[in-house]
Amino acid sequence: MDAVTGASSYTGRYIARELLALGRSVRSLARYHDARLFTEGVEWRELRFSRRSELVESLKGIDTLYNTYWIRFPRDGQEFDHAVNSTATLIQAAREAKVQRVVHISVSNADASSPFPYFRGKAATEEIVRQSGIVYAIIRPTLVFGVEDILIHNMAWLLRHAPLYPIPGDGQYRTRPVYVGDVARIAIDAAAGTSNLVTDAAGPDVLTYEELVRAIRSAVRSRSWLLHVPPPVALAAAWGMNPLVRDVIVTSEELHGLMHEVVMSHEPPKGTTRFREWLSQHADGLGRTYAS
Ligand SMILES: NC(=O)c1ccc[n+]([C@@H]2O[C@H](COP(=O)([O-])OP(=O)(O)OC[C@H]3O[C@@H](n4cnc5c(N)ncnc54)[C@H](OP(=O)(O)O)[C@@H]3O)[C@@H](O)[C@H]2O)c1
Repeated sequence: MDAVTGASSYTGRYIARELLALGRSVRSLARYHDARLFTEGVEWRELRFSRRSELVESLKGIDTLYNTYWIRFPRDGQEFDHAVNSTATLIQAAREAKVQRVVHISVSNADASSPFPYFRGKAATEEIVRQSGIVYAIIRPTLVFGVEDILIHNMAWLLRHAPLYPIPGDGQYRTRPVYVGDVARIAIDAAAGTSNLVTDAAGPDVLTYEELVRAIRSAVRSRSWLLHVPPPVALAAAWGMNPLVRDVIVTSEELHGLMHEVVMSHEPPKGTTRFREWLSQHADGLGRTYAS
């Protein structure tokens, strides 16, 4: 049996599905469980970092722990430091429960000296995993796309609904989007090895942000006018729309990170799904509603 943090959430559900297809049983450690997603093969234990002994119990008998836990941005007093501490609690509990392997989902360009707190925090979690004494694989995805994804989905939503789409700066910053199913496969393949491993999970195509926007625009047959704007203007436009969609569309860190190519990889790509092909297959449903 393997454990996945959040088998009902985005990346977690693809890892769980892939494990089930391989004949593994899955224990989901999560705040909630969507029983409609898995009729059998997945058991649910509540994930509460404050209940350490329960966490150890939940991890007993587990071969591999797939850890997808992280926060997108600080909220309700939970800073990235808090998420780093929670990760430490989870990994210590895994060691105590004698979990044999940890597959830790990090992010491309995680770096202790990054100007971006998300990426510094991820580097801190990688160090926790490295120091844990458990055999590990650290998987560093770039920009993860899939039908449940938020970013690509909401770019499509905006392109469908707004007459004007702001592109921050020159739009020439690159990304290497990776399909969520490929991330799951890369994670599970990594678990099969017996030595420690750190690898990017990146797709086969390099696209600039403008190419990404244009590809989505054409796929959803949008007539939205693309306008290059200074980053503060793009941020102000997004902030202005936040109350409308009751969400945080993009944070300053996310926007500036994208412009600094933090979701770019220079390793040979391990993902095989081509972004434009996936886009043409899913364009009909993409961006019909806002995804929060
Ligand atoms: N999406 C991307 O483009 C991308 C790119 C690079 C790396 N990643 C990494 O991939 C991993 C998975 O992200 P994702 O995109 O799949 O997003 P996600 O579905 O939001 O996954 C985050 C997980 O953390 C859990 N979580 C958050 N706060 C929690 C809390 N206080 N207590 C318990 N669980 C909590 C979420 O549970 P709930 O479902 O209950 O909220 C969810 O299972 C993350 O480590 C992320 O950094 C994602």
